[in-house]
Amino acid sequence: MNDLTQPFKRLPVALIGTGSYVPEHRLTNADLEKMVDTSNEWIVERTGIKERRIAAPDEKPSDMATNAARKAMEAAGVTPEEIDLIIVGTVTPDTFTPSTACYVQANLGAVNAAAFDISAACSSFLYALKIAVQFIGCGQAKTALIISSEKLSHIVNWEDRATCVLFGDGAGAAVLRTGTGKEGDSAILASDIGSDGTLTDLLLVPGGGSAIPTTEANIHEKLYTLAMRGNEVFRHAVEHMKNSALSLISRTGIKPEDISLVIPHQANLRIINAVTSRIGIPPEKVFVNLQKYGNTSGAACAIALDEAVRSGRAKKGDLILMVTFGAGLTWSSAAIRL
Ligand code: ACO
Repeated sequence: MNDLTQPFKRLPVALIGTGSYVPEHRLTNADLEKMVDTSNEWIVERTGIKERRIAAPDEKPSDMATNAARKAMEAAGVTPEEIDLIIVGTVTPDTFTPSTACYVQANLGAVNAAAFDISAACSSFLYALKIAVQFIGCGQAKTALIISSEKLSHIVNWEDRATCVLFGDGAGAAVLRTGTGKEGDSAILASDIGSDGTLTDLLLVPGGGSAIPTTEANIHEKLYTLAMRGNEVFRHAVEHMKNSALSLISRTGIKPEDISLVIPHQANLRIINAVTSRIGIPPEKVFVNLQKYGNTSGAACAIALDEAVRSGRAKKGDLILMVTFGAGLTWSSAAIRL
């Protein structure tokens, strides 16, 4: 789904601040070697991941989201009262209802904000961005906070070596605001979202919802944890991330050489290399931090964006291409002038 059909003139939208948060506790590959039949060599070679962060038992996704949001608001120089929209993407909400966004709103004291969650797995940050751009572009919101926060350690089967080595916890946030539309000023130039619901079975948490509730009889089957057909997910990830990025490049007229930095979903280094080489981006223009955090689902590209900004890898005026992929299947991409 793209922005080609514009029935009326939209207001420009700028990205004015980013923030992120990761829990203190590091779980290394060496730690995992003691938990399941795996090795540091296998994990690094097949994924690029060296360690991941694990939230404390009492640390909620809303807590991590609030920490990331505060940093993004501070960077943007906005007060809680100025925020009029909060969107949180998560597959590990504090509670099924109310939304994690409502807890975040209360934590921040963002009394003028409408707040809701979205579920788009690893694509949730750019799905949230797309939604916020529509709100701001139509004049329905001025200052939006988009956040992805995940406590994946809660839904990982720690006895399944095929999945438990991949995931981690964390949160990333950004503040979007009505832009100036002036050449060179920050702008969300274009975005793309898509999904294929015929492939829900490739990556899912089958139980714990209303379809298959957790019961005394099935609790030992661990249906409330992530189940994944890794090889197939890998193949679709490369294909859809490549297509989404290329469609954005062709729609905006951006040339690959105009792109300062690609910030992809941080799931697997081999996926990142396959996607970026297919869209003609050299490795030095690709931001990778999965070695430190593993796959934090929707939060991954948001944390990466914040780290790229804070480390100076992404600077004001740079053209950033973000591209993600996740359960659903879902995918998304965005071209952003910082
Ligand atoms: N340690 C050691 N061996 C392992 C491990 C492990 N942690 N996990 C699997 N293996 C074994 C398998 O049992 C298999 O052994 P076998 O040949 O004796 O049967 C062998 O390694 C190869 O397994 P594959 O699944 O074929 O390994 P592959 O190279 O595909 O790598 C991986 C697996 C890393 C999961 C890869 O498929 C992948 O990254 N897929 C995409 C996953 C992903 O990105 N998911 C998330 C995207 S969406 C989201 O972020 C929510």
